[in-house]
Amino acid sequence: MQFDTWTKALAELPIDCVAVGVQDDGELTPEAKTLDLKCREKLSRLTKRGDFSGKLGETWLVTDLEGIRAERVLLVGLGPKAKDGITRKTWRRIVVAAISAATRTRVTSLALALPRPAAKVLSDDRLGRSVAELTGNTLYRVNDLKSAKKPRPPALNRVVVAAAAKADANIRKGFKQGAALANGAALMRNLANLPGNVCTPSYLGKTAEGLARTHKSLKVKVLGLPEIKREKMGCFLAVTQGSEEPPRFIVIEHRHPKAKGAPVVLVGKGITFDTGGISLKDPPTMDEMKFDMSGAACVIGTMNTVAELNLPIHVVGLVAACENMPDGRAIKPGDIVTSAQGLTVEILNTDAEGRLILCDALNYAKRFKPDVVIDMATLTGAIVVALGVHHTGVFSNTDSLARELVDCGIAADDRAWHMPVGDEYGDQLKSNFADMANVAGRDGGSCTAAAFLAKFTQGLTWAHLDIAGTAYQGGAGKGSTGRPSAMLLEFLLRRAGAR
Ligand code: BES
Ligand code: MN
Ligand code: ZN
Repeated sequence: MQFDTWTKALAELPIDCVAVGVQDDGELTPEAKTLDLKCREKLSRLTKRGDFSGKLGETWLVTDLEGIRAERVLLVGLGPKAKDGITRKTWRRIVVAAISAATRTRVTSLALALPRPAAKVLSDDRLGRSVAELTGNTLYRVNDLKSAKKPRPPALNRVVVAAAAKADANIRKGFKQGAALANGAALMRNLANLPGNVCTPSYLGKTAEGLARTHKSLKVKVLGLPEIKREKMGCFLAVTQGSEEPPRFIVIEHRHPKAKGAPVVLVGKGITFDTGGISLKDPPTMDEMKFDMSGAACVIGTMNTVAELNLPIHVVGLVAACENMPDGRAIKPGDIVTSAQGLTVEILNTDAEGRLILCDALNYAKRFKPDVVIDMATLTGAIVVALGVHHTGVFSNTDSLARELVDCGIAADDRAWHMPVGDEYGDQLKSNFADMANVAGRDGGSCTAAAFLAKFTQGLTWAHLDIAGTAYQGGAGKGSTGRPSAMLLEFLLRRAGAR
């Protein structure tokens, strides 16, 4: 996909299709009016007749207008006129509407001459980033394993933003960031959408090794069972022991000659299938537990983005990958195991396996003497009850870090909500037989899960993202969403001082 800007007269733009906005009272935007005057008011006659309502997100394709160089004009409904200009949410909606309308035709190049939010609501570089991100997300097709012939892919290969000359350079910078983000998010989605029998821990390991071949800045190390044993990751080993599929612990390092300071370490939960183990899950939506490696997929996708942009920052991605299966050798409720850090854990529920693999990964992170550690995991059903599918849950032992992440989520339109962790929750994990249990009661389930992880983060500035509600969708639109890739990139760009 190619991205470009156009700062000259709209009617002169050599393109397959140009998209302009229309309010729901039929009023044309200034850009639409310019074109209307060139084509003897064919556009305003059309809206006056009432054929096109201008309802938010609706589109109407007009072809072969005299006086306009573009072959087609796409009218995009803006809905009611807002007093303070268009909001970011509405803008994202109309950009997606224009791109998806174009993909339903044979249009190869599309120009967006749509109204934009004020610069203080959406800066020029973020505008560029969002256009590239939304294009990537809209064109994404599930890598399905259907045997029927694949439908023809969309013809669209070029998106042009009509812009003021002074915005040009920043929009172009944003295009690069957004394209790299879209590539990383697509990699995440491809991995997460794959079934558990294809996307195994070894498959994740191979994918990571593949990244190191593509990007010079990346170094990848994949630990197998013997190395994981040598690391004494007793909690991780406990989860994998019920599975025939060998585990993998993946280390991906991005280095840059200009990067100074301690690294940012990203940690991902990579349960390639979560049956619950002996504490077996209910059947109805168990298939969705193939998405239980979404955190790992996001780490791998984000490392790809970081490498593609060659960000001047040291970033380490860690992935603990295994299956959670019931088996003759599987862990049983009541089993006690020893984590790499030395703390003992009584496993009261084998379905609370994410925190077991993460605690050993967090301990591994300490050797990098990181600036910050951020783990991401489809950790609890309770976060879906608390926040639904709209916000990622952010937990941290450092409030300012949590606030920074929430802020990045707002800036990147990939929202998160600050949730509590503290001793009160940690105390609920008391065990009569070990240093702690792996579950507390039903109350505050996401907070006690985070409090479990917090016990392994002494000396670290750490945040935990519970993405069980945001990383994938169930139901008719079942599939990975790519979240929270956008929030993470925003965070890393800020840390890299790149914006
Ligand atoms: N992977 C699940 C969490 C999950 C549930 C993600 C639903 C997405 C949708 C995790 O391993 C799990 O099973 N958690 C348990 C914890 C409980 C046993 C304390 C849960 O949330 O039920
Ligand atoms: Mn589980
Ligand atoms: Zn799980």
